[in-house]
Amino acid sequence: MDIFGISTLVIVLSLLHHVHGDVTSTKGCDIFQGKWVYDASYPLYNSAKCSFIEKEFDCLKNGRPDKYYLKYRWQPTGCSLTRFNGQDFLQRFRGKSIMFVGDSLSLNQWQSLTCMLHTANPHTPYKLFRIGGLSTFTFPAYNVKVMFSRNAFLVDIIATKAGRVLKLDSIESGKMWKGIDFLIFNTWHWWLHSGRKQPWDLIQEGNRLYKDMDRLVAYKKGLNTWARWIDTNLDPKKTRVFFQGVSPDHNNGGDWGEPTAKHCEGQMRPVVGHQYPAGSHPAELVVERVLHSMSKPAYLLNVTTLSQLRKDGHPSVYGHGGHRDMDCSHWCLAGVPDTWNQLLYAALIKRKTN
Ligand SMILES: *[C@@H]1O[C@H](CO)[C@@H](O)[C@H](O)[C@H]1NC(C)=O
Repeated sequence: MDIFGISTLVIVLSLLHHVHGDVTSTKGCDIFQGKWVYDASYPLYNSAKCSFIEKEFDCLKNGRPDKYYLKYRWQPTGCSLTRFNGQDFLQRFRGKSIMFVGDSLSLNQWQSLTCMLHTANPHTPYKLFRIGGLSTFTFPAYNVKVMFSRNAFLVDIIATKAGRVLKLDSIESGKMWKGIDFLIFNTWHWWLHSGRKQPWDLIQEGNRLYKDMDRLVAYKKGLNTWARWIDTNLDPKKTRVFFQGVSPDHNNGGDWGEPTAKHCEGQMRPVVGHQYPAGSHPAELVVERVLHSMSKPAYLLNVTTLSQLRKDGHPSVYGHGGHRDMDCSHWCLAGVPDTWNQLLYAALIKRKTN
């Protein structure tokens, strides 16, 4: 009787779960609020089956021994995410172009999506080509294009006699964004670089030149320029605009409540629960404010908090360079960016953007 009671409860609960999922996958559920749960059916694909994956993301091939990090599914509090369906994706978006624009975190998400699509459609021929900073992955039979345009700041860097100038109020590269169906932007990490990794010598705003400025302030000015460009130049009926939220790094153990951890090496489990000890990311707040000020809708893929919880998801020494090049910024694939793409897919298949 006891056992019967329990299994009835389980059935009722799973029915409730099901109904709940159906109701909330349409409206009223914040899919970015939730927790990571263990799911034996994960990962969504076998990275060995994605032959074009970049070495720096291919953690298993680079010798990562632990595998729990592959087994986590994002569970929103108020609903369930639609499972990614790579066949449906190609049919639904036949003839459409998708472009990720940003730094190597965009590359990370683009690569994840191309692996998700290819492994779901292993017999569908694809083409992959690179011209300059533009990578295009396409399924000719469906005319679906998934592109990545490398662009670390979104605003321009121009070479002048005085040096390389980061122009906070200029966007020349916007030309290539016109006519794309779905644009997913991201910028943040490069704004912090100084010394040898800083790719500019001067910052320009209007007619004024600066040797440097508070980086968060510069970031906000650059993003505002981007927002104005989108508002002025894109037709929301043709192009849907997304912003890939700030991807957090885990270089500092104190941020996730383990002051003795110097970096992310050896992390095998996510942070437990819904909240990250260090709280909101300062750049995240800038992104929120700028997106809020726009007159055309831009959908925030609010991945910051959920990624903050995944201190176990980085390549660490199983990325491009062992201990000489510890990577606690990018993410292993399969891994966390697959969830970003599930969230993107959930947003894309909804009829409205906001
Ligand atoms: C992003 O998600 C986090 C976690 O759910 C939440 O605290 C934050 O308010 C969200 N930001 C926006 C702009 O919705």
